[in-house]
Amino acid sequence: MAQTHAKFKNVIFTLFIFSHLLEAQSQEFSRNLSPKSLAFKKQKLSHLHFYLQETVTGDHPTAVRVAEASTTNKSRTAFGATVIIDDPLTVGPEPTSKIVGRAQGMYAFASLSESRLLMALNYVFVEGEYNGSSLSILGTNGVFSHVREMSVVGGSGVFRFARGYALAKTYFFNLSNGDTIVEYNVYVLHY
Ligand SMILES: *[C@@H]1O[C@H](CO)[C@@H](O)[C@H](O)[C@H]1NC(C)=O
Ligand SMILES: *[C@@H]1O[C@H](CO)[C@@H](O)[C@H](O)[C@H]1NC(C)=O
Ligand SMILES: *[C@@H]1O[C@H](CO)[C@@H](O)[C@H](O)[C@H]1NC(C)=O
Repeated sequence: MAQTHAKFKNVIFTLFIFSHLLEAQSQEFSRNLSPKSLAFKKQKLSHLHFYLQETVTGDHPTAVRVAEASTTNKSRTAFGATVIIDDPLTVGPEPTSKIVGRAQGMYAFASLSESRLLMALNYVFVEGEYNGSSLSILGTNGVFSHVREMSVVGGSGVFRFARGYALAKTYFFNLSNGDTIVEYNVYVLHY
């Protein structure tokens, strides 16, 4: 009985010391780690291919203009207009094809001389191994160029430490209502 008691006291003492060590550690501002300690093993290159479906008219627009400058409607490049999007990303070009994620964020007409956008958005994936992971895009988008290239500046989930680039090509543009389907090829390095 006394032995058990002593053992118990020992355990308590060990826990006490250990919790203080943990506390000391949590107050450390910075330390060096090996990538393996966070389970980052080998970097890989993934190619993602999908279509972005943007609806600007009707009852359920996926892109809404939220701001503009007092001079925007006098600008032939819509300079200053800012749009927030939540566009479905689909595996095929048909709007009814399977949704693999959404492009959520914003773009702004950022050029005085041409139709060029600042893109700042996330691809938020919902499919398979990518479900719950995201890629962050920051780039310049000259909308009338055949292929536009934007930077992948980071990511979350399976895309932690991501970097890469996204190539965008307009697949379909409805001149009468402005709805757009854009084909994306994204090349991304991640672990
Ligand atoms: C531009 O927008 C302003 C303010 O929204 C409006 O008063 C003006 O009539 C517009 N001009 C044109 C040419 O549409
Ligand atoms: C994605 O994850 C969410 C939340 O964990 C889950 O509800 C959903 O069923 C998953 N979707 C697929 C296609 O795995
Ligand atoms: C283009 O937009 C018009 C007007 O909303 C619509 O009637 C037409 O069906 C659209 N075309 C296609 C191919 O989606």
